[in-house]
Order: sequence, then C-alpha cells, then structure tokens
Amino acid sequence: MSKQEKVRITDLKVMKERGEKISMLTAYDYPMARLEDEAGIDVILVGDSLGNVMLGYETTLPVTMEDMIHHTKAVVRGVKRALVVADMPFMSFQVSKEDAVINAGRLLKEAGAEAVKLEGGEEVLEQTKAIVAAGIPVLGHLGLTPQSVNQMGGFKVQARDLGQAEKLRRDALLLEEAGVFGIVLECVPSALSGKLSEELVIPTIGIGAGPLCDGQVLVVHDMLGFGGGFQPRFVRRYASLGDAILKACKDYIDDLRAGSFPSDKESFLTGQKGEDLIKKLYG
Ligand code: KIV
Repeated sequence: MSKQEKVRITDLKVMKERGEKISMLTAYDYPMARLEDEAGIDVILVGDSLGNVMLGYETTLPVTMEDMIHHTKAVVRGVKRALVVADMPFMSFQVSKEDAVINAGRLLKEAGAEAVKLEGGEEVLEQTKAIVAAGIPVLGHLGLTPQSVNQMGGFKVQARDLGQAEKLRRDALLLEEAGVFGIVLECVPSALSGKLSEELVIPTIGIGAGPLCDGQVLVVHDMLGFGGGFQPRFVRRYASLGDAILKACKDYIDDLRAGSFPSDKESFLTGQKGEDLIKKLYG
C-alpha cells in the first residue's frame, strides 16, 4: 500500500495475497490517531482496551457504547488514511441480532468508524451474519477474548490442547463463511495461527500469536511504555513514554518551586513597559 491511499477493507485481502504485512495499532484519542496515521499505520483499532488503558478499569467489561462512540469520534477526526475499526463492547451484541445490528450501526453512523470488531466464534455467528448483512464490515476476534475473562479463568494462552484448537479452527472457518473481512487471533500458539493464516482466504491479525499471521496488532500504550501495569510477554516496547512524562512533571514541579519557572521569556510585559503600566494604574 502506498502511504497516501486511503485503506479500505478490500486492500487488506490484497495485502495478504501479496505477502505484505498489515500493521494495526489501537488508538483512543485524536493526537495518537493523528500520529499513527502520519506514520503510515494501515488499521487503527479503537479497542475496548480503552477501559483498561484510558479509563483505569481492571477489565474491559464496564466499557459502554457511549464510551466507544466518544473515543471513536475523536480518533476519526485524526485520521486521513488508515482504516478505522471500532470494538463492540461487552453486552452490545451478545443478547440479540437486533442489538448487534443497532449498536454496530451506531459505531458507523454516529462515531464514523468504517468497520466493527466483535469477540467470539460460533456463539455469535448469527449476530455476525446480521451485521454483515446490514452492510457493515466485521473483524472477528478469536483466542483470548478479554470480554470472556471470567469464563476463561484469567488472561491465558488459548487453544493449547486438541479440543480447543479444533474449536478455534472451526470458529475461524465459520466466521470466514459468515463474511468477516479478517480475524484477530489473540494469545494462541504460533504454529496454529500460522496454519490458520494459510487455510483462510481473509487476513489474520495476531497479538501474542507469533510471526506467521498476515498482520500484527498491539495496544499502543503497551508498545510506547505508557501506562504501567502488567506487560504481556508478546509486547515489544518501542519507547518509554511513561518515564519521560514522569520526569517532565517532576522537572516542572522542581522549576516552579525553585522560582526558575516562569522566566521573563515566559512572561508578558516585563521590564520598563510593565512598570510604566503599573505607574499609570497605581500612580
Ligand atoms: O481492545 C483491544 O485493544 C483489542 C486488541 C487487543 C486486539 O481487542
């Protein structure tokens, strides 16, 4: 993909066919989305991980449709080229097909996303088909699906045994047949995601799923070292923004307390002009 052209869902399949890796990062606000877009990222995911990294929740379960719409709108304002995908939050699609279509529609119509992502396989197949039938592109998400953390008994690598691997493969094939344009594979064995990436026509996007997927996604706060908390083994850190921000805040407090901030350069009408004004005012 050339850096200038707008990325469409159809481009992702072409990239897979050409063996070009698809790059994807999360973003939740305007400045981050602008920078990622300028850097040439292919897909921006407004993940419900915003519950953890932006809102300070332990899990993604409390995230609401209103949260997703608010953050997706900000991201969309910062993007010219990347494809913007918004996550469907917990309980926005599980209960019924009707809910699923209405909420997916809101993410496009009100927030300006170009596609939605939802977690799960066979158990959400009807919802997935209904959203696709409404003309809304869907990205699937299998393996570790954080909205099911309570059922999975924690954040663990998935599909480690034959039964689970068979279910993952079946789910992936069913989702492809249902019309999703790609599938995120989270925390699954590398060999399995590699084999699935060969078997599927649509692209796979890995996170903790090894190098053989057609693309990769990371939570941007993790890869920028911005946010603290648990750092999964699959994350590569490209910066230490948290440390840089902490140091900057401490330096500011020190300068303020030492009286070196603000200086004359950082103030207005200093020197004679200021004194003249005061003389006029107070006599
Ligand atoms: O919410 C999110 O950020 C995600 C990615 C981890 C794939 O679903």
